[in-house]
This record gives sequence, structure tokens and C-alpha cells, in this order.
Amino acid sequence: MSKNIDWSNLGFGYMETDKRFVSNFKDGAWDEGALIDDPMVTMSECACVLQYAQTVFEGLKAYTTEDGKVVCFRPDLNAARLADSARRLKMPVFPEDRFVEAVVKTVEANLDYVPPYGSGATLYIRPYMYGKNAVIGVKPADEYEFRVFCTPVGPYFKGGAKPITIRVCDYDRAAPHGTGHIKAGLNYAMSLYAIVDAHNQGYDENMYLDAATRTKVEETGGANFIFITKDGKLVTPKSDSILPSITRRSLMVVAEKYLGMEVEHREVYFDELKDFAECGLCGTAAVISPVGKIVDHGKEICFPSGMDEMGPVTKKLYDTLTGIQMGRIEAPEGWIKVIKE
Ligand code: PLP
Ligand code: COI
Repeated sequence: MSKNIDWSNLGFGYMETDKRFVSNFKDGAWDEGALIDDPMVTMSECACVLQYAQTVFEGLKAYTTEDGKVVCFRPDLNAARLADSARRLKMPVFPEDRFVEAVVKTVEANLDYVPPYGSGATLYIRPYMYGKNAVIGVKPADEYEFRVFCTPVGPYFKGGAKPITIRVCDYDRAAPHGTGHIKAGLNYAMSLYAIVDAHNQGYDENMYLDAATRTKVEETGGANFIFITKDGKLVTPKSDSILPSITRRSLMVVAEKYLGMEVEHREVYFDELKDFAECGLCGTAAVISPVGKIVDHGKEICFPSGMDEMGPVTKKLYDTLTGIQMGRIEAPEGWIKVIKE
């Protein structure tokens, strides 16, 4: 029985659900793992994750489709990205096929929390892993925990599909040593000061520029950028120091193969922004959130699509992507993992 939740009014928050998946790595091997009830984690006060932030995570969603199935979107890409993140922090890789299996098991065990089709909500799934044993010298842990929990969520930005305002950020987001392309807790910790500062000043998000020259557009704290040119091309920044967004990679295919658009994945200079017709943020949590305005130290760049609604090309991308995710439009081979028929 579906839970009695006011799905349409959910924000992007955490709600405890019934089960979570846990597997432990010890003596060089992962155990078989299990679904458990207890949402609390207990560990050493000196755990590597607590002292040296040895933790990485993923985010993906499960959807109820138009015909009542429960599916998730490209979980194999999240598995591969978590493996990359783990390798960069000297953590053992959780096998990619087992990652997908753990996601499926977690959703199956919490089916009552999967929001109904058309409610505007989805089930956000959070796989993650961390170094668990006590470590006091700076070195990786020997014992790790891999977990998956899920929680029903609504839109990431308040106001749903209303365009947001972002500001050019003076801080660098990624922790040093080239970790910007992985989903490590430390990168997000490094963005907390900037996001609170942005919100305090009335902005919804930060636009990070490349740290070396501060001339190129990177991404925001939780999403990649997409831009639409006046002649209808999709342009999206290429950089080794941004997260390789699965939504962005999917949109590049959607634009080209479903909408017949030209796609440019390249360096995007800040100076070009004034020439674009539309701008959006894309990600699992953000889906596609339109950006109406970018503020650069008091100077405003206003996109012609305005502050009232999503631009027309962004809307087409949004409708096609969510149509694929919710089963209204046929997906490319391998994009949809069915969890419940
Ligand atoms: N960039 C950052 C920093 C993120 O946290 C996310 C969210 O996962 C994204 C981009 C979008 O990635 P994806 O589309 O894989 O969710
Ligand atoms: C996601 O979109 O899954 C993210 O991780 C973004 C944010 C919630 C951290």
C-alpha cells in the first residue's frame, strides 16, 4: 500500500523509509550485504570518514511510469561513477553489477514510498560508501561500509519549474588536487560556505568558474549547465573538473537523436553567456531547472526566455527526458532498469 504522503507538496528533503541496504568491506572483501531496518550508523570516533572525509556518494531516481511500472534511469552509469570516485579516494570499488542489484533491492523494499505517476515527486536513491575503521595517521581506511537508502522527493529548487537566479561565485568549489570530477563528500563540504552565502544574498545557486583562469563556466554546486543558442543549438561546458553529469550526457543524446538538434560539448567562456537564448541546470535532483538570470558582481545577464517560464527549447528537452524516464517515450536501449513490472 502506497504511504499516505502529500506527494505533490514534497520538497527536496530526507524522509526515513523502511529499509536500507548495507554491505561491509573487511579483510579485503565485501560481504554479501543485507537490507536492514536501523537508519542509524555507529562507528569509531576516529573513523577515517570523520577525520579525513573519506566518503563518496551517488544520486539517482526511481519513477512510477505511466503504465504503473517502477523503473530507474541508467543506474549502471552511477555504478561506474561511484567506482571512479572510490578509486580517487583510495577506497575499494563496490562491484558495479552489485551496485545495481543493491539499488533494485532497496527500491523493492520501499515500494510504498515510490511516488505515484503524475504526482510531481520521485524516489531519490542515495548509494554511498565511507572509510569506517579508526585511522589517525593520514592514510586510507581498511574497512568500509557501502549503503543505499532512498527517500521520496519533490523539486530541488523551491518554486518548481520557475526560472532561478544564480550568481558568479568567487570561491572555488572543488577540494584541491583535481577531485572536482568525482562525487566526494569533501567537494560538497567545500561548497557549503558558498551556498549559504549565495542564499543569504538572495541567489538560488552559485556558478563556479574555472579556478585557473576564471574565464570559463564550470558548473553549479549540484548540477551541470546547458545553454541554448539563438539558432537552437545545445551547448554544454566541457571540463575535467566538473562532475560528468548523467543527465547532461543523456540530454546530449536526447537533443541530437530525438530532437534533431546540434550539440556542442566544449569549453564555454563566461563572455559568451550574454549571447545565449536559454540557460538551464541539469542533474538528477535538478532535472532541468531553468535559469532566468545570472548576476556577476552586480552586473545582470538576463536570458531572453525571462523569469516567468522555461524557455521553449529547454521545455522540449525537459519533456523528452522526463517522457523517457516516466515511460511515455521509448528509451534508448539500456537506459531504463525495470524494478517492478
Ligand atoms: N554536478 C554536481 C556537482 C552534482 O552534484 C550533480 C548531481 O549529481 C550533477 C552535476 C548532476 O549529475 P547527474 O546528472 O549525474 O545527477
Ligand atoms: C544529485 O542530483 O543527485 C545530486 O547529488 C545533487 C545534490 C543533491 C547534491
